Order: sequence, then C-alpha cells, then structure tokens
Amino acid sequence: MAITVSPGSVATLDEVVEAVASWQQEGAPVQVHPGDLGWNTSLGTQHLADELRVWRRDGRLVAIGMADGLIRLALAPEVDEDEEFAARLVDDLSDPARGVLPAGGSVEARYGAALRRVLERRGWTPDESWTPLRRSLAEPVEDVGRRVEMLDAGHAPEQVVLDRVAVHRAAFVGSTFSVERWRAMAASASYRRARCLVAYDDDGHAVAATTVWSAGERRPGLIEPLGAHRDFRGRGHGRAITLAAAAALRELGASSVTVCTPSTNTVAVGAYVAAGFEQLPEVTDFRMPS
Ligand SMILES: CC(C)(COP(=O)(O)OP(=O)(O)OC[C@H]1O[C@@H](n2cnc3c(N)ncnc32)[C@H](O)[C@@H]1OP(=O)(O)O)[C@@H](O)C(=O)NCCC(=O)NCCS
Repeated sequence: MAITVSPGSVATLDEVVEAVASWQQEGAPVQVHPGDLGWNTSLGTQHLADELRVWRRDGRLVAIGMADGLIRLALAPEVDEDEEFAARLVDDLSDPARGVLPAGGSVEARYGAALRRVLERRGWTPDESWTPLRRSLAEPVEDVGRRVEMLDAGHAPEQVVLDRVAVHRAAFVGSTFSVERWRAMAASASYRRARCLVAYDDDGHAVAATTVWSAGERRPGLIEPLGAHRDFRGRGHGRAITLAAAAALRELGASSVTVCTPSTNTVAVGAYVAAGFEQLPEVTDFRMPS
C-alpha cells in the first residue's frame, strides 16, 4: 500500500514497518515502535496509511510520523545528530500549510538529539509528560502463577479472542475495541511479530490482557496496550500480565521489554515497577509555539 507522504516522498507500509523495526536500539530512548503502528492497524491498514508521513534522505527512509492526536515521530539512528535534517523536519512540522501538523499541535520526539535541540531553540514548549519503563530480558522471567493464554496470527481460539477484547474494554474506559478490530490487527504485517496474552484467575475469569510486539531478535520489544479488568484490580493481575508479556517477548528474541505510560498514570507505573521494570527519566512532548 502506498502512503501519501510529506514532503513528496512515497513508501509502502511494509517498508515503513521494517524501517521502524530497524531503528529500535537497545539503550536508546523509547521511540515509536512497530507495535505502535501495529496497534493502529486495528482500524484498518488504510487508516494507518492515512496517519503516516515519511521523510527520506538520499533515498533512504530516515523519519516517520504517525498522526495519533499529535504527531508521533520515529527517527533513524543515522539522523540522531543531523542538525540539517532536523531543521528540515521542524520546518515541515512548523508550517500548518504543509498539512503535517495543525497550528498549535504537538509532537512526540523522544529520540533525535538534534531534533530535540532544534525544537527547543525554535521555542517549542514542553507538553504531556510520559514515563518510559524498561526491563532487560537477558535473564529468564519469573513464573506468573496464573493461567495465561496466547494468541498469535495462526492460533486464535474464538473464546480467547472474545476474552482479549472484553478485558481490553473493561480496562480502558470508552474503548471501541472489538473482535473485528482484533482480526484486522491480527491480519496486519506487524502482527507477524506480535502476540496477545490473556490471564485468568483461579475461577476462570479473564482478568488481564495485553499485546506485545517484537521488533526482531536482539531489539527492544514493546507492550501496547496492557490492562486489568476493572472488576479484578488490585489483586496482582496487572503485575502478572506484565511478567507474562516480558516472558513472551523473551521467547520472541527481544533484548528488553519497554513501555511508555503517561506520568500521571501512577498506578500503571507502580504495576510495571512491581514487575521488575526500571523507571526511566520522564520525557515530554513538544507543543508548537503560537
Ligand atoms: C495498571 C493496571 C494494569 C494495574 O492492574 P492491577 O491488577 O490493579 O495491578 P496489581 O494488583 O498487579 O498491582 C501492581 C502494582 O500496581 C500498583 N497499584 C495497583 N493498584 C494501585 C492503586 N490503586 N494505587 C496505587 N498503586 C496501585 C502497586 O504498585 C502494585 O504493586 P504492589 O501490590 O506491590 O503494591 C490497571 O490499573 C489498569 O488496567 N489500568 C487501566 C489501563 C492502564 O492504565 N494500563 C496501563 C497503560 S500503559
């Protein structure tokens, strides 16, 4: 599928997913991951393609932006310190006439030292604050002590799909996730390297669920999203599904498991820390100067 891009460059969705996967680096700031793209395919690949913008340098993809309320950016390591490229990117973002970002909009730019410097120099101001968390997968993950069912593209028992959807809706207020949306996501290219997990309590209730996304062997994996059913909170299920997520990503060859949550979501931060994650320094989005 061709993506309409800015400025005047074209890419296929597969090319974007592979590029973003190759940009995930151990130890680098947690930036947009193939899993973020994959989760957004639940509304259809056309919807995701419409959300994407790409930038090239010397013919190579070096940055992508996903319009998801704000523009969420992922950058190639080769432009991390590239001031000239960063200036071009910020020019595109700053001019509402170019259609990348509306006036007064925000960007998520967690990676790209030069880009962050240029944004600051041009008067972009801190916006929403996020807390990244990470756990190394060098060592095996402790047992979660719960029944956990896994869904992948080739193994999707109907009841587990229903449970995965029901738990998500019971975890995230106002969610419109559905079996149809799950199927669209599971059919996407990104989901080839993803798994859904559903945890059950001793009475057989589906109590927590998540989707985990690998970016390939020896690269950081991502949790997106994760939730415990609102009727079953505070009983260790959030910690348990987080441990199951870590174990599943280790199976997939990921070097670490990462997640980003709004800093205001102190309960989620607590659940990840309880599952052995290291809480990394907060990072803010940037808002366009008025
Ligand atoms: C975050 C969430 C998954 C936690 O699930 P949970 O089953 O209630 O969590 P657990 O019982 O496993 O608790 C794990 C830790 O979370 C923290 N926690 C849980 N409930 C808490 C509360 N009400 N207040 C403060 N901390 C809390 C504690 O640190 C706890 O560790 P402890 O038991 O060792 O003190 C759940 O609240 C949820 O689904 N929230 C909505 C969706 C969401 O925000 N997902 C994360 C976004 S990335």
